[in-house]
Amino acid sequence: TPQSLLYPYEVIQEIADFIVKRAGIRPKIGIICGSGLGSLADIIQDAKVFEYEKIPNFPVSTVEGHAGKLVVGTLEGANVMAMQGRFHFYEGYPLAKCSMPVRVMKLCGVEYLFATNAAGGINPKFNVGDIMLMHDHVNMLGFAGNSPLQGPNDPRFGPRFPALVNSYNRDLINKAIEIGKTMGIESNIHVGVYSCLGGPTYETIAELKALRMMGVDAVGMSTVHEVITARHCDMKVFAFSLITNKCPIEYSDKKDEEANHEEVMAVAKNRQKACCELVSRLICEIQKG
Ligand code: HPA
Repeated sequence: TPQSLLYPYEVIQEIADFIVKRAGIRPKIGIICGSGLGSLADIIQDAKVFEYEKIPNFPVSTVEGHAGKLVVGTLEGANVMAMQGRFHFYEGYPLAKCSMPVRVMKLCGVEYLFATNAAGGINPKFNVGDIMLMHDHVNMLGFAGNSPLQGPNDPRFGPRFPALVNSYNRDLINKAIEIGKTMGIESNIHVGVYSCLGGPTYETIAELKALRMMGVDAVGMSTVHEVITARHCDMKVFAFSLITNKCPIEYSDKKDEEANHEEVMAVAKNRQKACCELVSRLICEIQKG
């Protein structure tokens, strides 16, 4: 089956109706919590929680550090829905399955997608714990001929050939930079290019060197297919990476330079307060109009 036919419009509509009916609100902002950033969903008020297993036709997440719940409620007065636990290509799911929740968000009424992730910093200026606001991406899975939009296009979602220039909303990036200043963390905030690889392996030195040459600043295993799906259906996108490790781009036998999931989770736990504050304050700005 082509990817685009895995979740027909009617199935997405049914899931969206299921959620909106039980939540009693229509969310305007959708949030995807990255590894260890689940607390973004914990700060939602008047939360209605939907475990993925209990949502008809919804996939289940299999990764440690990704809870597997959809949380619908309010944040800074805005109706929001957050995914605590996302779906990755390396779990064995086709990309269209990984990003189908974005279409569910769209049919629930979501206009803004906030996507967050943990990533390795390739730009030598980045430090562990820094935040990189994404302003562009290099879609490695796309280079390799894979896309969540592969297969017949349903124009109710969007066009056959969506453009991806200006996918990352400039106004939201600028607002986030301003918020970073008022939080006193401007030296820990960067703007850069993210690349998604298939995983689950971390990259080799040669791959990291290649990515650096391509202008990539941070690397991870998610987000890009979600952004593609969101832009296809014309959502505004804001995305950032929490830099959980510095990627080595020179050969060395230092064991402590190897990326590992425990370190990723520990850094994310340490920085979740700052990430939550950034997200809350940006939502507050959106609410002001
Ligand atoms: N590479 C890929 N994905 C990641 C990394 C990394 O170094 N750190 C966190 N997610």
